[in-house]
Amino acid sequence: MFVVVGVSGGIAAYKTVTLVRALVTNGHEVHVVPTEDALRFVGTATWEAISRHPVTTSVHDDVAEVRHVALGTRADLVIVAPATANTLAKMSAGIAGDLLGVTLLATTAPVLVAPAMHTAMWEHPATQHNITTLRSRGVQVIGPADGPLTGGDSGPGRMVEPEEIAAAAEALLAPRRDLADRIVAVSTGGTREPLDPVRFLGNRSSGRQGAEVALAAAARGARVRLVAGHVDDGVLAAAAQHPSIEITRVSTAADLHEAMRGASAGADVVVMVAAVADFRPQTVSDQKLRKEDGDGTATLSLVANPDILLDLVAHRVPGQRIVGFAAETAADDAELLERGRRKLARKGTDLLVVNRVDWDRGFESPDNEAVLLTADGPVGRARGTKREVADALWDAVAALPPVDH
Ligand code: C5P
Repeated sequence: MFVVVGVSGGIAAYKTVTLVRALVTNGHEVHVVPTEDALRFVGTATWEAISRHPVTTSVHDDVAEVRHVALGTRADLVIVAPATANTLAKMSAGIAGDLLGVTLLATTAPVLVAPAMHTAMWEHPATQHNITTLRSRGVQVIGPADGPLTGGDSGPGRMVEPEEIAAAAEALLAPRRDLADRIVAVSTGGTREPLDPVRFLGNRSSGRQGAEVALAAAARGARVRLVAGHVDDGVLAAAAQHPSIEITRVSTAADLHEAMRGASAGADVVVMVAAVADFRPQTVSDQKLRKEDGDGTATLSLVANPDILLDLVAHRVPGQRIVGFAAETAADDAELLERGRRKLARKGTDLLVVNRVDWDRGFESPDNEAVLLTADGPVGRARGTKREVADALWDAVAALPPVDH
């Protein structure tokens, strides 16, 4: 899920670092939006390192991407922790002077606030009035807790503990735990077909999209078996920490085939995101191939690898859903759809995620754009981060008609 964590300027901001970490560990895509004041307590570098996303307080960054509105419109949940008296007053009045204010106005997602301030400020009629206004608009308020405050006083005003805020956040996101107790097998990354001990045939797949498909499934409650080809450790970092994701690393198409056969056994849903090499060298040399041995030209003989997806569809157990990906170069949308339709018919999957690739589109980028296709035609279009495309995929799987195989 896409979670925005707004941080305002209170000492409790240091505890919000733990909250952000918990949300990331639970598999969410977390974007931190501090106020200028919050940065006096915890700096940008900490928020970026913990959330793994760039952090800004300004509405003037990435103007072309309309980032200031995008965070709010993309969010599945916005949390403000700590929420100071000042920030609560601004929220109540709808003031949009910084990125957090704009995000809060642009969102239709649930909003959870964790107030933190001195007892006198919390009990002031102005703050109480603002809290009542926010509650009447559906804002969820957690805390404040009663206890020792900065400066030696004691009373209501402490921000509740990060673990409690994380649990409240999960409860608000819970309606989409539609994969609870389901087993999901996902492949990701590129395969490598060796030519000799030092060379291989590979491709540009980063493995990001498949990692996001796995994280999105885990966030919805699934137990995930993730089979990863050649993927940087950094891309798999969040998945590797997730208690519901088990990762198997593979190298060649043959390795991936064997691992996916195992992973698919007993799985409710299988998603083949991996970029599998269609061909492998006919012979693999034991020795490094030397240019001195040739006449200035070289010929590679290749043999076809099995189509793993076809094989998984052929051996699927009753009720199992199978999803394929199709990365296509196409002149326009119509050609892309036509290629997708033909591929879906050939592969026999329940769903095909069709995306356009090019020299500078699709691979290696954090964003993606895809059409979700079933035998009945397109059922959706996803455009945004690879996490958003992953969530659109799971929404489409949930909306598939009852199984007839
Ligand atoms: O035919 P094409 O390679 O475009 O199909 C892409 C889909 O098929 C992806 O889901 C990919 O993971 C899968 N695939 C496969 N085995 C292959 C080639 C592709 O499972 N040898």
